[in-house]
Amino acid sequence: MKINNVMVVGAGQMGAGIAQVHAQAGYEVFLHDIDKERVEKGRASIEKQLSRQVEKGRMEKAEKEAVLGRLHSSVDMENAGRADLVIEAAVEQMNIKTELFRDLDRHAPPHAILATNTSSLPITEIANVTKRPDQVIGMHFMNPVPVMKLVEVIRGLQSSDETYEVVKTTAEALGKMPVEVNDFPGFVSNRVLMPMINEAVFTVYEGVAEPEAVDEVMKLGMNHPMGPLTLADFIGLDTCLYIMEVLHEGFGDDKYRPCPLLRKYVKAGWLGKKTGRGFYSYEA
Ligand code: CAA
Repeated sequence: MKINNVMVVGAGQMGAGIAQVHAQAGYEVFLHDIDKERVEKGRASIEKQLSRQVEKGRMEKAEKEAVLGRLHSSVDMENAGRADLVIEAAVEQMNIKTELFRDLDRHAPPHAILATNTSSLPITEIANVTKRPDQVIGMHFMNPVPVMKLVEVIRGLQSSDETYEVVKTTAEALGKMPVEVNDFPGFVSNRVLMPMINEAVFTVYEGVAEPEAVDEVMKLGMNHPMGPLTLADFIGLDTCLYIMEVLHEGFGDDKYRPCPLLRKYVKAGWLGKKTGRGFYSYEA
């Protein structure tokens, strides 16, 4: 199946990034959200990213205009009727995702693939609310989307080989590297990443080292581009806590228990970069 039109549901940071890379790869993209303001904010962030590339001499101005020309704003679910591939990147709440997938299943043409960018919710359960569970799959992009090479492609219990192949080919057309994994809590990315971040929080909680020292150890000693606590602030501490809870509940294993300090910061509203305070302060 050939993909021409893509709909991205959710115009936040991830959705905007996903829409950008598809428009850059030549797809017609509908960037959809519940209201015009959200869509326009997402669109403005894409425009800013593209302008930066033009300033750096990496993109011609005409190319930027062409990319923006392929990017269509949407607040009407009817637009799903024109999509060959829908990628949902809305909030990480099961009731919202299932409601969206029911709606998408009603509006999207029968051949369309419905993908979700969820970082931890079960694909199989999301697929189960549709009448096309074989055409539902996880397409997990990493932040920042335009920079990171990985697309974790998560096969739900009923995802078909054809659905997998189409999504794999699409990810490759974006210049990304798709990696196939199965649907278990945290998939591979967050099952490995989040316990590492959680353990880094424990080292601070137990007074083993200051956040700066933990991050330096992992940056200089393990060649990580960001230390785990800087990365946690970048991802959002609420997201980190939520994913640890998904792992803890999903496996029923105490090795995934979230660190009390992570809970405390989230309760304080210290969610990382987005709120100006997490393990570090970003107020300046
Ligand atoms: N959006 C778009 N581009 C960005 C960006 C952003 N938010 N941040 C940085 N970049 C670009 C820069 O423009 C720069 O591009 P050029 O080389 O073309 O100039 C390039 O990335 C490198 O940026 P910098 O030189 O400013 O900084 P850096 O070398 O430290 O790289 C980084 C920044 C790419 C974010 C790097 O620190 C990194 O790889 N960090 C780890 C990111 C990571 O682990 N992401 C996964 C998070 S987990 C996740 O997303 C999944 C989940 O489910 C929670």
